[in-house]
Amino acid sequence: MNSAATSSRIAIAQAGDHVGEIVAVSGWLYNLRKSGKIVFPILRDGTGVMQCVAVKSQLPEALFETIKELTQESSIVVSGKVRAEPRAPGGYEMDVEAVEVVQRVPEADPYPITPKEHGIDFLMDHRHLWLRSRRQHAVLRVRHEVIKAIRDYFDSNGFTLIDTPIFTPAACEGTTTLFEVDYFDGEKVYLTQSGQLYNEATAMAFGKVYTFGPTFRAEKSKTRRHLTEFWMVEPEMAYATLEDVKRVAEELVVFVVSRVLENRRSEMETLERDISKLESVKAPFPRITYDEAVASLQRKGSEIQWGGDFGGTDETLLGEDYDRPVMVDRYPTAIKAFYMQPDPERPEVALGVDVLAPEGYGEIIGGGQRIHDLNLLLRRIEEHGLPKEAFDWYIDLRKYGSVPHGGFGMGVERCVAWICGLEHVRETIAFPRMLYRTRP
Ligand code: 4AD
Ligand code: MG
Repeated sequence: MNSAATSSRIAIAQAGDHVGEIVAVSGWLYNLRKSGKIVFPILRDGTGVMQCVAVKSQLPEALFETIKELTQESSIVVSGKVRAEPRAPGGYEMDVEAVEVVQRVPEADPYPITPKEHGIDFLMDHRHLWLRSRRQHAVLRVRHEVIKAIRDYFDSNGFTLIDTPIFTPAACEGTTTLFEVDYFDGEKVYLTQSGQLYNEATAMAFGKVYTFGPTFRAEKSKTRRHLTEFWMVEPEMAYATLEDVKRVAEELVVFVVSRVLENRRSEMETLERDISKLESVKAPFPRITYDEAVASLQRKGSEIQWGGDFGGTDETLLGEDYDRPVMVDRYPTAIKAFYMQPDPERPEVALGVDVLAPEGYGEIIGGGQRIHDLNLLLRRIEEHGLPKEAFDWYIDLRKYGSVPHGGFGMGVERCVAWICGLEHVRETIAFPRMLYRTRP
């Protein structure tokens, strides 16, 4: 075996701990620059990118030729001495001593994604490869950080993680966006739209809970904010009011943004994100009512009338006035889900809240206080034309120790799109599912 395989193997991210040592890095050829008698293979290994330097006069001729002819995304193990190089991306370079080619991408069928501009459809069709690109890589690392921050926030604030089912017998967020699945013996079930109803049961058992998983909406919306499959984190708290829900939502968003700023600076740089916009995301968030939001929208020229739901454009207009997320509460009961607690002083509005992100990103969180009164809940189920049988267990929760309670759902993809400053949510998940896309 050549020394590429026998040198101690390191990750590019750890290069700084190995300056002056001969090490091996296993990765893929990201790019190759040639300059006469020196070639610069740029290697990526998933943890970072490192420029290597191969000098003709210092290498066996065959090896130098092999390096010179390497093709993009060929898998290679490179070994050599690590050197600090402040001008290099990442800050280190490797002087190549040996290269083992694991698989060489043939010229006849080259790597399809080249540094030239590709259209979005082409890139989406090649999503399985596009993930290797720097920007996509940065986005998914931020997503990882966001998810970890969400978990850390709830885990360190007394919440128990309880997973809720994906196959569900009933709608949570309205019957028009259900994906139906043939279960056994003719039974129909639906892919979950939200774990909330189950969270309400587990909150009565554990006090403070959260669920975190994929949710599905058969929404025929082709917007930059909609996926048919997305990840949602949903906390739920017993003995909680709308005000408690707002406080937790605010704390969570501040925590998540600060974690990204702390740990993902280089990704933010890759994405050319203006982080000063994120640095202003601090408590307290402005709090306005739906009534105030409608009045403000009308002043801005929106067609919205009291009683209507906000469209994407309305949300963008509302967010414009603030440098941090804004919380809008007390939407008309009529446009909200069956479980929303009406305001006792004004039953035509519900004790629900949406959190709208700034910079035009719109709703990232929806939630509020749930109905805890048995008779009111029964009435609402009927008014919404929902099948009572499917909710028997949910109704039980109002018979056995019912208490005011509430929670919310935050969509991971919308949150990541905002934090990364992306045009569309499709880049925030490895393999997006959208109206016209189920592949790769
Ligand atoms: O506002 P939604 O529909 O609320 C619920 O599902 C509640 N049951 C949550 C709860 O109280 N436990 O959805 C919550 C969030 C939205 O604010 C948005 O961030 C995200 O989920 N979301 C979507 N994200 C991507 N694509 C879609 N089609 C989405 N629909 C909702
Ligand atoms: Mg909503």
